[in-house]
Amino acid sequence: EKGGWSSFMLKEITEEPDAVANTLRERIHEGDVKVPELEALGDEVLREVDRIIVVAAGTAAYAGQVGTYAIESWARVPVDVQLAHEFRYRDPIVGPNTLVVSISQSGETMDTLMAVKYARELGARTISICNTQGATIPRESDAALYTHAGPEVAVASTKAFVAQITALYLLGLQLARVKGTLDEAARRELVEELVAVPEKIRFATGEHERIAELAHWMGTASAVLFLGRHVGYPIALEGALKLKELAYIHAEGFAAGELKHGPIALIEPGLPVFVLVPSPRHSEEMHRKVISNIQEIRARGARVIAVAEQADAAVLPFADEVIALPLAGKFFEPLIAVVPLQIFAMELATAKGLDVDQPRNLAKSVTVE
Ligand code: BG6
Repeated sequence: EKGGWSSFMLKEITEEPDAVANTLRERIHEGDVKVPELEALGDEVLREVDRIIVVAAGTAAYAGQVGTYAIESWARVPVDVQLAHEFRYRDPIVGPNTLVVSISQSGETMDTLMAVKYARELGARTISICNTQGATIPRESDAALYTHAGPEVAVASTKAFVAQITALYLLGLQLARVKGTLDEAARRELVEELVAVPEKIRFATGEHERIAELAHWMGTASAVLFLGRHVGYPIALEGALKLKELAYIHAEGFAAGELKHGPIALIEPGLPVFVLVPSPRHSEEMHRKVISNIQEIRARGARVIAVAEQADAAVLPFADEVIALPLAGKFFEPLIAVVPLQIFAMELATAKGLDVDQPRNLAKSVTVE
């Protein structure tokens, strides 16, 4: 039940730290990754995986997209995300060493279920990342890696998203362990980062009041853009999706590097643009490029809202607003940076008098194709 909360969505955003912590529980042993559900599948099976295809829809697909960067980097296995409804019709290349990972909060999305069944017919191994115990998709899969976000009621997914990324990271670390692509010290360092995420999400929710103010002055915006690079790119897509779903505003997410290849034509005075700024500690080059994107759009009159690490003074002269995040490892920034975007969409929808839990035309789980 909603308890004292004004909406399920607000309640579920507040539960995000627990969603991550509970998804990690019993899957980390003495500072190293040890996922019983994946061990049951057999180390041999994981060792031989030479390709991963993530199948999902909506927010779950964006979680998959975030996961590709870390899994490829840690386990050195190519990872693609395919929208479940596209996967079946593209004559996918699937062999016995292909691992098809489905992601679904409900575990009942028909498109995703059909993709999993098809993958099995083609001989793939299948793992289901799912938030609903005993749902159809995990039952139809070789292994289930449940996210323990707790029931998610609001139609627009929030806590399930961060839990899905957490589960993918556990999978990436377990693969890296079995394949020997990360040594123990490297794994331990990453596990430490992962365990620190819930506290950092809590810090990000501390920006709620400021984000609500921002949302209020943007209540009349007819379009909003989101830019991100690397793991910030899928977060830009998710930020835009949230705004479409909840506030019915035309919103688009772009890879920041694409700006000059088209989207910059959309920039006009007053247009709000959220920019996810990667930490300069991870890559000075990426950071510099994103700052120069900010300058380009600012020069054309856009209102820039930078989502950046607290200590990043370089954004201050160029951004109209800065939403400050705590320091986090390269792959862990998206788990934290998504939170202000979720809050923003919720507050903007609220400012417009809309029902944030039950947006028009949408259903929590789509059980038809
Ligand atoms: C959509 C929901 O219809 O289905 C989204 O509105 C969700 O919020 C998507 O991300 C996928 O759902 P599930 O249950 O498979 O994760």
